[in-house]
Amino acid sequence: MKKHKILIIGAGGQLGSELTQGLWQIYGKENVIATDIKDPQGILGQGNFEILDVLKEKALFEFIKKNNITQIYHLAAVLSATGERNPKFAWHLNMDGLVHVLDAAVEFKLDRVYWPSSIAAFGPTTPKQNTPQDTIMDPTTIYGITKLAGERWCDWYFRNKGVDVRSLRYPGLIGYKTKPGGGTTDYAVDIYIKALTDKKFECFLSEHTYLPMMYMDDAVKATLVIMEAPAEKVKIRSSYNVSAMSFSPAEIAKSIQKHIPEFTISYQPDFRQSIADSWPQSLDDMRARQDWGWQPAFDLDKMTAEILKHLPAYL
Ligand code: SER
Repeated sequence: MKKHKILIIGAGGQLGSELTQGLWQIYGKENVIATDIKDPQGILGQGNFEILDVLKEKALFEFIKKNNITQIYHLAAVLSATGERNPKFAWHLNMDGLVHVLDAAVEFKLDRVYWPSSIAAFGPTTPKQNTPQDTIMDPTTIYGITKLAGERWCDWYFRNKGVDVRSLRYPGLIGYKTKPGGGTTDYAVDIYIKALTDKKFECFLSEHTYLPMMYMDDAVKATLVIMEAPAEKVKIRSSYNVSAMSFSPAEIAKSIQKHIPEFTISYQPDFRQSIADSWPQSLDDMRARQDWGWQPAFDLDKMTAEILKHLPAYL
């Protein structure tokens, strides 16, 4: 078997910190280098960690060469809500970072590259229910624009440069090991923290705002499965729809109340409401299921039970 040497860029983020642990388990800590622009917090300090800024292309190339990297998971990005506050930087990091990684994949003949897309790549005129894989995409946030453009870059590098790049359009990801990170779907991360600490939560989205969501374990599993799949099974090289569950703030509150009956929620929608309103409510992920066997394991209540069990240790 070929020996992999894996570089994770943006390992300190919500997805990165958990994906890193999944990759340690599969490939061994010695074969996985977690990087970010800041010192690691918590769990990442237990492995191979280095500071790396994907925007510094020369340093990135030197790092890849020096460490004989064969695969990159490129996760560093500005999320939707933060991106609206600093659109130029979101464009710079999300686009230039990706192109640096794809160029490095060509230069060093990397085995494969992973890059996440998002439901944010869709927009207000995209069909909202059961959103198809191939459909209208008219993102209204800078973050979404970078995800759609990024999908096209990935497909272009695959077709023209032979880069084996793989990608998923994640729904809102919900985990308990990191704090909310500036995303519109992050209310569903924060709500569990507030349920345990304050027993009440003020939501920045309205009561019946449905969004596609996924528990972190499923997100890590989907990522590892598509990255392990034989190249010929990965037929879509822009990005695959993947789905697990959809719920509204009122529904997640109800799910929490099954464990914490005194928990209350109130609603104070802000600018993030229009971002959420522009995104799909549910996704059709048939292609991921057919092409490489995607299958989620967590629904809302199962996720709530799991998070409320483990989160207290992280507060
Ligand atoms: N979770 C992201 C956000 O809300 C969407 O990909 O920004």
